[in-house]
Amino acid sequence: MALNLVMLGPPGAGKGTQAERFAREHGIPKVSTGDILREAVHSGTALGQAVQAVMERGELVSDDLIIGIVGERLTRPDALAGFVLDGFPRTAAQAKALDEITALRGPVICVEIKVPDEELVRRVRGRRVCDDCGANADAFEHKPDALSDLCQNTERCRAVGPKWVARSDDSETVVRERLKIYWRDTRPMIEYYSARPTFRVIDGLQSPEQVREALVGAVASALGRPVAQ
Ligand code: AP5
Repeated sequence: MALNLVMLGPPGAGKGTQAERFAREHGIPKVSTGDILREAVHSGTALGQAVQAVMERGELVSDDLIIGIVGERLTRPDALAGFVLDGFPRTAAQAKALDEITALRGPVICVEIKVPDEELVRRVRGRRVCDDCGANADAFEHKPDALSDLCQNTERCRAVGPKWVARSDDSETVVRERLKIYWRDTRPMIEYYSARPTFRVIDGLQSPEQVREALVGAVASALGRPVAQ
């Protein structure tokens, strides 16, 4: 049976961190709409040029555009055995589209990571990303010289060292705008999922390892299986 997982939660909740590891450990693709859009901006494609200003303001790109991107990605062969979605859906229209895309693909497990707003702002302000490969690091947790060990993803990162930068939408003003949009457009959509038997909530204030364990437990419980760490 396919393992279809949707990570839900506000900016900085840890969706990407957990999605990355869960997908790797289960041999299924992580589909992150934020990563897809940032890669397009980085490469200067037509898509990137169309979305850059919207993302820098912390607003959502159009439903039609993002539904098209996700619909295409989830029909590729590697996603047929399952996927971890990070950053999609974010609106009622996107949730409806996901139901249609996955109608014949087994249950979709939705896990919401909850974290209070002030902790989200703190985390996002401390986040640094490698400008070359997109790896994440927490500037509050790691001293500058230890940061280079955290990024070994590309030959350039290994040879020259990572170039850590703040994401252009991670300033405090933009993060607060992203949170406003989350509470207005995305949180009500999560209500749409909350009545389903495959919906679970986990506490994102724990350490990343504890959140990982909670996620593994939530997925097992949603599938009615024993927990395999
Ligand atoms: P996107 O990239 O999806 O951003 P987001 O949802 O705002 O989420 P973040 O990436 O900020 O946070 P996260 O929950 O993944 O946390 P992370 O693991 O990185 O979207 C960006 C933009 O693209 C949107 O604003 C919009 O413009 C556009 N977009 C994307 N999808 C769209 C859609 N479907 N529709 C329309 N527009 C769309 O962790 C954050 C930090 O906290 C890291 O530094 C991490 O190291 C740290 N951390 C993680 N876990 C913990 C922990 N347990 N304890 C302490 N620190 C932790």
